[in-house]
Amino acid sequence: MDGLPKGFHIHDGILLKRLSIRTPNLHIMRYNARGFPYNSMRSRLHSGIHPARNGPTMNDTLKTLHSLRSIHGNFSESEISDEDLQTILRTCVRAANASARQSYGIVVIEDREMMKALCGYAGSRGLLFCVDFTRLEMQASHLGHPFAAGGIPSLVIGAIDTVLAAQTAAIAAKSLGIDSLFTNGIHRGDIDRVYRLLDLPLEHCFPLIMLILGYASEEPQFQKSRLDGMGIVHYGKYHPLTTGDLEGLIRAYDDPARHLGMSEDWRKKGMAHYLDWFYTVWVGTFPKTTGKSKMLEILERSGFTQT
Ligand SMILES: Cc1cc2nc3c(=O)[nH]c(=O)nc-3n(C[C@H](O)[C@H](O)[C@H](O)COP(=O)(O)O)c2cc1C
Repeated sequence: MDGLPKGFHIHDGILLKRLSIRTPNLHIMRYNARGFPYNSMRSRLHSGIHPARNGPTMNDTLKTLHSLRSIHGNFSESEISDEDLQTILRTCVRAANASARQSYGIVVIEDREMMKALCGYAGSRGLLFCVDFTRLEMQASHLGHPFAAGGIPSLVIGAIDTVLAAQTAAIAAKSLGIDSLFTNGIHRGDIDRVYRLLDLPLEHCFPLIMLILGYASEEPQFQKSRLDGMGIVHYGKYHPLTTGDLEGLIRAYDDPARHLGMSEDWRKKGMAHYLDWFYTVWVGTFPKTTGKSKMLEILERSGFTQT
């Protein structure tokens, strides 16, 4: 990149010095765009402010992407405008989609009680993104063409189309100042209720992810960060983690300035590491399924599990 000293590169708007091709970000020195070392930005990291947010390399798109954070249920009563909703819907369908099929359907929910019944959360609007081949099948049958949807390849490809549209909706919303929460609350308990409440087609349609849109009633105290180095990004080929790498990751999760995990008070619960809490407490909060899961039953009924 022009103007950068040898061995430096820009990533996420942060000037980074690469020590070796395999060196993950946990080991590299971080500088902000004005050349301040990462550690001197610690207080800003504590406040959840991305160190490079105001840096000259952050364009508006990157600023929007770096400002994304979930609102965990505390949405205000304020409603988003119909104009903004239409902008979000028209923008999210711009996402790439396999064979130009758009193998998804989006159910827009206005009723907050309905949102709660579907996923446990409520905001101004709920967008339920479903993998859905119904339209493609109806078009084919209308023209008298055979069209075989269903099976695992359709589920995988459909899920990719669907989730790309869903994330694009979240980004479009954020660019308009609208907050969001992705939730798989739709999959908790009796998944069939989602089909019943919304009249979803039983075949070749699967509710994949719910996006709640609205305005936060309370700002989160900090923005969670992300791992973006070892174990996440593999340069050239896949690199298994070494013991040293694992220890680095455990330290990263334990670092109170990083806000990487789900809980901030795991120390108070007597845990040595955040990941001890994660594997023993958090994972344990998910219901254990014995035998065939409800999700598998629904996927079988939808025709998405044949090979
Ligand atoms: C598939 C999926 C399901 C999620 N389900 C929930 C949920 O049910 N409740 C919730 O509070 N957050 C949920 N989240 C939000 C994550 O907890 C959140 O993205 C993560 O903790 C990182 O925080 P951030 O988005 O604020 O950076 C979900 C996110 C995804 C992608």
